[in-house]
Amino acid sequence: MASAPSDALRRRHDNVRAALTGASLDALVVTSLPNILYLTNFAGSAAIVVLDRERIRFLTDSRYVAAIADTRGKPYECPDLEMTVVAGSYDVRLAEALGPYRAARVGFESAHLSVARYNWLARTLTADGAPNPLAPTEGVVEEARVRKDAYEVSVLREAGHRLSAVASSVYSLVRAGRSERDVAADIDWHLRRAGFQRPAFETIVGSGPHAALPHARPSGRIIGEGDLVVLDFGGVHGSYCVDLTRTVAVGKPSDRARQVHEAVRQAQARAIAAIRPGVSRFDIDAAARSALAEQGMAEAFGHGTGHGLGIEVHEDPRVVQRRPGVDTRHEAVDTGMVFTVEPGAYFPGWGGARIEDDVVVTDQGAELLTMVTNELLEL
Ligand code: GLY
Ligand code: MN
Ligand code: MN
Repeated sequence: MASAPSDALRRRHDNVRAALTGASLDALVVTSLPNILYLTNFAGSAAIVVLDRERIRFLTDSRYVAAIADTRGKPYECPDLEMTVVAGSYDVRLAEALGPYRAARVGFESAHLSVARYNWLARTLTADGAPNPLAPTEGVVEEARVRKDAYEVSVLREAGHRLSAVASSVYSLVRAGRSERDVAADIDWHLRRAGFQRPAFETIVGSGPHAALPHARPSGRIIGEGDLVVLDFGGVHGSYCVDLTRTVAVGKPSDRARQVHEAVRQAQARAIAAIRPGVSRFDIDAAARSALAEQGMAEAFGHGTGHGLGIEVHEDPRVVQRRPGVDTRHEAVDTGMVFTVEPGAYFPGWGGARIEDDVVVTDQGAELLTMVTNELLEL
């Protein structure tokens, strides 16, 4: 499996260390597995990282010792990794590892450490009357992940290329008389055949009235002549997620179906045309939304225009409506950001359409990572 080169990992450590300095923290306990993967290339299911100004300590258990040892001397070895093998409780070993920091300020990821674990750690670290060193943080590593580095962009380009090839090959699977579930199972098989590690989420096939459900679960419904069918699928390649949607017609689409599909297509084109460094992500959303509003379909588009892609299938930046209380960090999009552009129009009881592509922001604007026709195909 592809892994980030050691020098990219070193730069990521440096970026997070700079953020720690800025926040007056001496160390950060990283308990989010996607964040651990980003910092170390570790893709297993259990580990904790303690990153301080000089060291990177890595706690894992015996299941992963051989895999870590195998990276030694390789071009993707995590630099300076100090491994502790956990036998028994991770949190007992974490408390031991934090012993030297008890007069310091140690950040923890408040979104990724349960209250029960935090309470236990705080109680343990203060049992002898020492002050609690733990300080909540939010999004320190995620902040670094928002702009992809050159390695990540190259992996996402390759993943987008593969996903586009899958899209081209799945159209032949969609026919009147087949069930949504059968089509979804075949799409998943094509994802594996294309070399994806796994689907990035549960594949969506929504036909006829089910196309009105943005996150339709494939059902036993039999696809019929004249249906619009939403096909939304994604794959994980080299630990990075890509995500694509096409809406196709089975047989001859109605005039209304053509109109809805074309409105969504125009909305997506407007949003993509609006992308360039410095533009507000809320304005990119507004570009899609106003195109649909011009066709009288404002109410039919309930979800956001897009979401960031990377180690997780839904991450920052969020291309959404500006509303009270919405997170305003990273309002301006910047080079290296990777996100989806996926407007849709949904009419309960009738059906709907969505078109989704993935882009990376460059100095020139948006480079498409997924490339497959978005004309309404009649299958
Ligand atoms: N299928 C999930 C998404 O497009 O975000
Ligand atoms: Mn999708
Ligand atoms: Mn998506």
